[in-house]
Amino acid sequence: MVGAQPSRPRTPLSCWAGCRGPVLAAIFLLLLVSVAGSEARVEDDFSLVSPAAPAEVATAPQLGHLSERHPCPPSSPNPFPWSLARFRVQPLVTLEQLLWVSGKQIGSVDTFRIPLITATPRGTLLAFAEARKKSASDEGAKFIAMRRSTDQGTKKQREPRKGRLIVCGHGTLERDGVFCLLSDDHGASWHYGTGVSGIPFGQPKHEHDFNPDECQPYELPDGSVIINARNQNNYHCRCRIVLRSYDACDTLRPRDVTFDPELVDPVVAAGAVATSSGIVFFSNPAHPEFRVNLTLRWSFSNGTSWQKERVQVWPGPSGYSSLTTLENSTDGDGEQQPPQLFVLYEKGLNRYTESISMVKISVYGTL
Ligand SMILES: *[C@@H]1O[C@H](CO)[C@@H](O)[C@H](O)[C@H]1NC(C)=O
Ligand SMILES: *[C@@H]1O[C@H](CO)[C@@H](O)[C@H](O)[C@H]1NC(C)=O
Ligand SMILES: *[C@@H]1O[C@H](CO)[C@@H](O)[C@H](O)[C@H]1NC(C)=O
Repeated sequence: MVGAQPSRPRTPLSCWAGCRGPVLAAIFLLLLVSVAGSEARVEDDFSLVSPAAPAEVATAPQLGHLSERHPCPPSSPNPFPWSLARFRVQPLVTLEQLLWVSGKQIGSVDTFRIPLITATPRGTLLAFAEARKKSASDEGAKFIAMRRSTDQGTKKQREPRKGRLIVCGHGTLERDGVFCLLSDDHGASWHYGTGVSGIPFGQPKHEHDFNPDECQPYELPDGSVIINARNQNNYHCRCRIVLRSYDACDTLRPRDVTFDPELVDPVVAAGAVATSSGIVFFSNPAHPEFRVNLTLRWSFSNGTSWQKERVQVWPGPSGYSSLTTLENSTDGDGEQQPPQLFVLYEKGLNRYTESISMVKISVYGTL
């Protein structure tokens, strides 16, 4: 779906966000339809709750390390409703599972790259990756691999609410920048919403030109949409571009295009998401040059500042990442589950293209 630098023949629609609500599912139905015709499609369930599942690769030392850092997860007799006021955010990794491994071990696929993850309103997790048949290169035969997990239990029914579907992507050289597609009829029809072009538009970019690229949008509690974008040519900083739309991506004003110097970035596709209570999470390889050290940060101020505390998800080679949350989900016994965050990211020991891994994180450190 998306490519990586340096030379990228890219199609748009690299990322998406649901502006709330049940309509998110429609995006994925759409994606599912689009992959259903693929002969070599990979689709199977992956277990997230059963630690004994054979496909799982435990990373015990890492988990132990994180556990030590957060020795006292609060036990919560009445875990609902979760609110900022009552619980301390102390993200705790509770599970890590490799979903795809490169090296022709799975379906003769050379390399899996470009992870994307989201959750449907009913609590189904959907994970996607590009399965690059012959090489790690952006060019060449590929298909979309998809795995899903339904064993998080069903989500609590939410208020019916009319929602807009927002899919934001990045362009090609000819139509560069970030732009969004919108649907107000649950995905039946789509129209162009706002966009922000690169400068100079339609021409090759040089270092320090303005060139917003791969992005992950999310919605803040006031209904505004933040688009956190890759700063392809390091305009202004080696950090993220942050766009904000106050009308659900109908428009984006120049004054709402900002940069976040705290989010130092090696030019990569990063993960961003907000919980319904307004905690913003961000994941990237937190390094100005190299794709290493996948780090999770969080903000209680709508992303205008970030907590000093961080969680190092993986110190080694790590590339693209994508975030989603499951809130209000119940387990098999109908018990309310505490909010969970999921990170899908490119992970390796020597190169970040070695595998795509999914990490489950308990937002409040509870098990
Ligand atoms: C974050 O935005 C909400 C509205 O969405 C606002 O009520 C709140 O005060 C903001 N928080 C901070 C710390 O700016
Ligand atoms: C990796 O990230 C951690 C925070 O998670 C930071 O303390 C450390 O300095 C980083 N290491 C490198 C090599 O950037
Ligand atoms: C979870 O439930 C609470 C209370 O019912 C609601 O305010 C919130 O929007 C819900 N969040 C999600 C993500 O469903």
